[in-house]
Amino acid sequence: MTEPIVAIEGLSKRFGAVSAVDDFSLQVERGQVAGLLGPNGAGKTTTLRVLMGLERPSAGVARLFGTVVVPGSRELRRVGAMVEQAAFVPQLSGMTNLRLWWEAGGGRLADADLDGALAVAGLGDAIDRKVKTYSQGMKQRLGFARLLLARPELLVLDEPTNGLDPGEIREIRELIGRLTNEGSTVLLSSHHLSEVEQTCSHVVVMNHGRLVASGTVTELISSSGSVYVEVDDRERARAVLAATPGVGNVAIQGDGLIVELTETRRSDVAAALVGAGLRLETIMPSQGLEDAFLHLLEGQEVSV
Ligand SMILES: Nc1ncnc2c1ncn2[C@@H]1O[C@H](COP(=O)(O)OP(=O)(O)OP(=O)(O)O)[C@@H](O)[C@H]1O
Ligand SMILES: [Mg+2]
Repeated sequence: MTEPIVAIEGLSKRFGAVSAVDDFSLQVERGQVAGLLGPNGAGKTTTLRVLMGLERPSAGVARLFGTVVVPGSRELRRVGAMVEQAAFVPQLSGMTNLRLWWEAGGGRLADADLDGALAVAGLGDAIDRKVKTYSQGMKQRLGFARLLLARPELLVLDEPTNGLDPGEIREIRELIGRLTNEGSTVLLSSHHLSEVEQTCSHVVVMNHGRLVASGTVTELISSSGSVYVEVDDRERARAVLAATPGVGNVAIQGDGLIVELTETRRSDVAAALVGAGLRLETIMPSQGLEDAFLHLLEGQEVSV
């Protein structure tokens, strides 16, 4: 087993009487896109700040590449972190901002992955325009370009779509998609549920500083609710499902059926229908992560 890239174990962080993070654990393996999902005040930013060595934990441990980091640690060079708002010089172009920032770190721009960073950021010709003419979303993409110059092995992003409009959010989602196609490892926080559902492979839900659930996005959705199925014979499917253990209510919806799963998995429902000789056209979660998340926060039991 190789060491996880991020390993947080039993982490607690108190600010005076406030318990921001409480016995929280999280792991990110190489190649995962992990979403840290939670409502306002859940403890997401605090968790990421402790991980980056910007805060000391009250208890527990947060490791990056197997190491507890402090400001200046070598391991931090392998991380591109956006935990605070990226700041740029507005009167200068995006490109000049990138160059000055890189050179301020003592490097030559020729050694940076400029092409890769620009390709992911997707700013096109706008890279030569003054930053003060950029939209919020463009500034955010320039922030990504800056992180990527150093070819980081891990990206840590605190609410990367915060303050963006729906079009800009879509662009950031596409950008993260380009990163993950290249095999980057990402840990991002969000309270946009659909966002995590669409961008992430794994999700960790936190609330009041505590771990609520974790697993793959698919697991989290499929273990908590119902599936939508389309078959060639709905009436016969209803009879088959009525006799299948672990299946609750079955209701007709549109061209298909909504099947409530009480104690069974989606794959078992598929197997029962196919086993009975029905032709299964579609089977998918009938609810998104948003519903699963709300159920979790209501304290409903789920096993993921
Ligand atoms: N420096 C601090 N001093 C005192 N309390 C703090 C400090 N930082 C965070 N907190 C408190 O800790 C709790 C968790 O805050 P945190 O910012 O980590 O949550 P979050 O999940 O990032 O929320 P948001 O979605 O609003 O960004 C909150 O109650 C917050 O007020
Ligand atoms: Mg926050």
